[in-house]
Amino acid sequence: MSKLVICDHPLIQHKLTFIRNKETNTKDFRELVDEVATLMAYEITRDIPLDTIKVETPVSITDSKVVSGRMLGLIPILRAGLGMVDGILKLIPSAKVGHIGLARDHETLQPKEYYINLPTDAPNRLLIVIDPMLATGGSAIAAISSLKKRNCDQIKLMCLIAAPEGVKAVQEAHPDVEIYIAALDERLNEKGYIVPGLGDAGDRMYGTN
Ligand code: PRP
Ligand code: URA
Repeated sequence: MSKLVICDHPLIQHKLTFIRNKETNTKDFRELVDEVATLMAYEITRDIPLDTIKVETPVSITDSKVVSGRMLGLIPILRAGLGMVDGILKLIPSAKVGHIGLARDHETLQPKEYYINLPTDAPNRLLIVIDPMLATGGSAIAAISSLKKRNCDQIKLMCLIAAPEGVKAVQEAHPDVEIYIAALDERLNEKGYIVPGLGDAGDRMYGTN
């Protein structure tokens, strides 16, 4: 069973409250998602390896740590995942960004892939699949399967809000993929929306409906 990490830092929980609020406007919603993504990037990179190098301070020479050569890739699931990219790049500016376009059929809730574009060296990178919502898990499972088909096997998943059904489905389909979320909600409703959730993440981010 893959690891599930709930990023429950007080600042993340505070911002998430305003993200959930239906009165929060598009501009504020986008800014808050961006900020939470930055804070979650701090958690998801907690175990990346370090190298030791020499550094000369004004006082002496000392051994000091730098992030090792391990390369990262961010893979937002279009559309809503895009809203988390810049926040993560603030902390990891050297990460490359690939894109997977998936849309859920509103009747069947099945995701359909309509676009994929990955960095050429994606199989050598630790890839972080990004999507604000993990509902049935169908989109995340399809995105991860698509990456694995292209020989990528170091993958983590980062979402803002998850339903227990989605977490279970991803853990069963991809037990090697660690999942990082800011909140584990109660359930899915009959339309596949997370309860209480935040509504349709893409619509709230881009002001569509
Ligand atoms: C939303 C969300 C996820 C997906 C989650 O995207 O951003 O990608 O639903 O649901 P699932 O876990 O049941 O697959 P949507 O398909 O609405 O597309 P959008 O981002 O273009 O709005
Ligand atoms: N996708 C969303 O945007 N919101 C949900 O609650 C479920 C899937």
